[in-house]
Amino acid sequence: MPHAETPRTHGIAVVTGASGGIGAATARGLAEAGYRVVLTARRKDRIEALAAELTEAGHSATAYPLDVTDRAAVDTFASAFRTIAVLVNNAGGALGADPVATGDPADWRQMYETNVIGTLNVTQALLPALTASGDGTVVVVSSTAGHATYEGGAGYVAAKHGAHVLAETLRLEIVGTPVRVIEIAPGMVRTEGFALTRFGGDAEKAAKVYAGVAEPLTAEDVADTITWAVTRPPHVNVDLLVVRPRAQASNTKVHREQP
Ligand SMILES: NC(=O)c1ccc[n+]([C@@H]2O[C@H](COP(=O)([O-])OP(=O)(O)OC[C@H]3O[C@@H](n4cnc5c(N)ncnc54)[C@H](OP(=O)(O)O)[C@@H]3O)[C@@H](O)[C@H]2O)c1
Repeated sequence: MPHAETPRTHGIAVVTGASGGIGAATARGLAEAGYRVVLTARRKDRIEALAAELTEAGHSATAYPLDVTDRAAVDTFASAFRTIAVLVNNAGGALGADPVATGDPADWRQMYETNVIGTLNVTQALLPALTASGDGTVVVVSSTAGHATYEGGAGYVAAKHGAHVLAETLRLEIVGTPVRVIEIAPGMVRTEGFALTRFGGDAEKAAKVYAGVAEPLTAEDVADTITWAVTRPPHVNVDLLVVRPRAQASNTKVHREQP
């Protein structure tokens, strides 16, 4: 008999990068699943607006402005919690699409800081509270870029490989504790921020990423997989879930309709 979905009402779920895209959709999904969601990101106005919207809809949601690369701020944030049920490490993204020959080291450094050190900071700081819950879940939103490379992607691919390794190693190290580690690796997702950030706000370049692709994944598609994995019974650990749009067979093999 398959286990029914486990309702985890009243548990706290912290989502990083909840000001838009996958993080905001995940906060919605987890709130609907019964979690008390704590939304964090740097853009205070956005997380406050989402927290207000969720509260209005009858959920428990609070906003806490946080830069995941600021360890002192992360530690202060973590000190407010005794127990936490779920941490979704979603804050991250890509900067630039230059080849290795000309890629900007500052971009590479920033991608590593956000996607890897940011995940490390928040995970380390909240691990005691996740353990204290007696049934904690750490989610790392990596990417298919954490599993295979593509031309022009090396800086982001290197950072997401780092996030993948962090998840895989943490799972080995904390086995036997009541905390599981789930990695969600999405392929192409059309969010308002991802490609725009990657190309420094150039909307034309950003649009080209999705040109001719019938149906890239949406933030809600990914949030759905995260919420599903998190709401499995505690003994079920979805180690790694790779999710792509049907039109994308690999990082480099994407079907595009001709205009
Ligand atoms: N879209 C895709 O195709 C795709 C595919 C695979 C994986 N992913 C990954 O999924 C995650 C979410 O991406 P998305 O597509 O939803 O992009 P997005 O709309 O640009 O969202 C990125 C989120 O990360 C937050 N963030 C960035 N730097 C941060 C920092 N230093 N501290 C705290 N928050 C920070 C942003 O919030 P603030 O700017 O308000 O801080 C924002 O909420 C990222 O890790 C991304 O790499 C995306």
